[in-house]
Amino acid sequence: MTFIKRNYGWMLVTILASFPLFILSNMIHIDISDGISIALIENTTGEGRSTIEMLYHVSGEFAIRWMTAVLTCTPFFILFGVTNLFVRQAMGIATAIWSLLHFIIFIWAEGFLETFTQVNYVAGFIAVLILIPLLFTSNRKSMKKLKASWKKLQSLAYAAIFLSLLHVAILEKTWIIYAVIVGLGFIIRMPKVKERIIAFRNKRRALN
Ligand code: HEM
Repeated sequence: MTFIKRNYGWMLVTILASFPLFILSNMIHIDISDGISIALIENTTGEGRSTIEMLYHVSGEFAIRWMTAVLTCTPFFILFGVTNLFVRQAMGIATAIWSLLHFIIFIWAEGFLETFTQVNYVAGFIAVLILIPLLFTSNRKSMKKLKASWKKLQSLAYAAIFLSLLHVAILEKTWIIYAVIVGLGFIIRMPKVKERIIAFRNKRRALN
């Protein structure tokens, strides 16, 4: 019982982050009878999109949703005083895995070199590259080892969300909602705003 109480946060993130994999698994057919061959199953989406468009859509949307969620952890902590390193870490892993999966789908469908044919793909590619060191250092061990440079390294996440939003905006897909959430988070992080919120919270706590 204590185990569940302590760990339910990151377990919930893991379940939520894995769930769309079942949707994707219904869209592809993997044949291992003669080596490995992967084929798309068409007409599975019922949304008037081809299967490859749906694969881009699901993987891209979940990548940007988890990235936005990770970046709201600090503002959430400032607002409510609640934080959990394991939950944040699980969200970071979900972001990196969905982004990598999105890129792997692209490489499989179009080829790696196609990445360098459009500005929006290059922006996405740099974001994916940034996510790799972030993925391996979002833990307590690296935090202790890297000390002051850890924060600097993690602040690359801002560049990753900027580039990802640029990628999605150029593609003319849904990006404003994510930009607004991340933007509000930046306002809450501003030292003056942050101090005021924390002072307000402390005052309320003293009154209760
Ligand atoms: C090398 C890196 C990347 C490549 C080559 C790439 C490629 C693509 C392609 C081909 C599409 C579909 C475009 C269309 O339907 O017209 C797409 C859509 C999208 N991508 Fe990426 N992407 C990359 C990285 C990323 C990253 C890092 C994120 C976010 C974290 C992201 C989020 C999205 C989103 C949200 C969509 C729109 C999905 C939809 O609603 O249909 N992409 N990307």
